Amino acid sequence: MADSLTVIDNRTEKKYEIPIENGTIKAMDLRRIKTSDDDFGLMSYDPAFTNTACCKSQITFIDGEQGILLHRGYPIEQLAEKSTYLETAYLLIYGELPSGEEMDGFVNQITHHTMVHENIKKLMDGFHYDAHPMGILLGTVGALSTFYPEAKNIMDQEDRHRQMIRLIAKMPTLAAYAYRHSRGLPYTYPDNSLSFTGNFLSMLFRITEPTYHPHPVLERALDLLFVLHADHEQNCSGNAMRSVGSSHVDPYSAVAAAIAALYGPLHGGANEAVLHMLKDIGSKDKVAAHIKKVKAGEVRLMGFGHRVYKNYDPRAKIIKRLVEEVFEVTGINPLLEVALELERIALEDEYFIARKLYPNIDFYTGLIYEAMKFPMDMFPVLFAIPRTAGWVAQWEEMLLDPEQKIARPRQIYLGQMQRDYCSITNRPSQAPARDR
Ligand SMILES: CC(C)(COP(=O)(O)OP(=O)(O)OC[C@H]1O[C@@H](n2cnc3c(N)ncnc32)[C@H](O)[C@@H]1OP(=O)(O)O)[C@@H](O)C(=O)NCCC(=O)NCCS
Repeated sequence: MADSLTVIDNRTEKKYEIPIENGTIKAMDLRRIKTSDDDFGLMSYDPAFTNTACCKSQITFIDGEQGILLHRGYPIEQLAEKSTYLETAYLLIYGELPSGEEMDGFVNQITHHTMVHENIKKLMDGFHYDAHPMGILLGTVGALSTFYPEAKNIMDQEDRHRQMIRLIAKMPTLAAYAYRHSRGLPYTYPDNSLSFTGNFLSMLFRITEPTYHPHPVLERALDLLFVLHADHEQNCSGNAMRSVGSSHVDPYSAVAAAIAALYGPLHGGANEAVLHMLKDIGSKDKVAAHIKKVKAGEVRLMGFGHRVYKNYDPRAKIIKRLVEEVFEVTGINPLLEVALELERIALEDEYFIARKLYPNIDFYTGLIYEAMKFPMDMFPVLFAIPRTAGWVAQWEEMLLDPEQKIARPRQIYLGQMQRDYCSITNRPSQAPARDR
């Protein structure tokens, strides 16, 4: 069996052999298919990249049909149970789990890069009191590039890694400052004696106590949520990171672009939408009526369905178990009853079964965050902090891949072809429908 595709162009009756490698054909091979010498050649059209591989990667594997997620080969279930966010970050970046010594070194480096320049506080102060924390995060991460001019040396391994460490380390600090700013609270400096998530909780919630003692269950729960959000291959923000990074801009600017992508409600905002939906439904007895509306196409069941997963999102299963542990500490969020009933009915209903719509990662995360006293506008920020590990790992892989170049897609131009400029007095008036 030949690993190739035989294509007959019916316009010319010419036959082409296109090699198949790793289950793909190279889009550039289509260019050979022409009707004449001056024909540009065939392109593929794929808005939203639904069937286009933009890179070769060794970081994250997803089998959406089976509901499998692996980081560097390790199942997410095992990482969730046995690993930590920082160990998973190390794995994503370096490709292997660290030895004890390597892990200590990595944690030490991250811990000693959590402070931000004092001028960042002034920058924060410039934001309006009700500025969205994700907007603040986006702006301040971008601003970090001006504090570290050596970040431009992206091909210098030492410089590059220092920025990757800084990004992972400073993200919780910026996020916590953004939160404190919106509450009118003084900024809390990082506490190096605490864990990554313990320190984050301290920077968020410490008031006057000399040392903040995070609740161990909540500290671990947040760490587990960070493990589950660390990477998800070529999603919208990962793609933004690679695409903007391909211009060889510094990584702070590229992460700002990735955060911008994540800010959108279709990406990082779904867990907030789930919470709104659960609040709107209000009680268990109203669930059936809501499902009816979903089936009539009036609304979508938020937290259900996924572009890649056509099975239960493996991360959602883990989070569902976590809900109980968190609620034992925080008290039950009454919306849990509504969520469980929604899930029960949907999983038995032909509409959802036929469309392979299962709960995704966002279905339960909002309930946990709310129980942990995070305001809703912090939800996408809680996604951005751990996803930074994935973004920088994807970014470095892209930079070191000799097959990569500056990202520059093609288009199908359907507009006017060349025509002559005509002076304003001689122009026909626009059709009334073109209301500007
Ligand atoms: C995630 C999502 C955008 C993926 O969309 P997609 O892969 O483009 O899937 P489509 O929009 O093509 O949907 C396929 C079918 O399932 C239906 N569908 C998809 N998600 C649905 C949902 N959450 N509720 C109800 N119906 C849904 C669509 O109406 C469509 O039905 P049809 O074939 O009868 O027209 C989509 O499932 C969604 O909007 N989910 C809710 C938002 C959410 O939870 N986002 C977080 C993702 S991590």
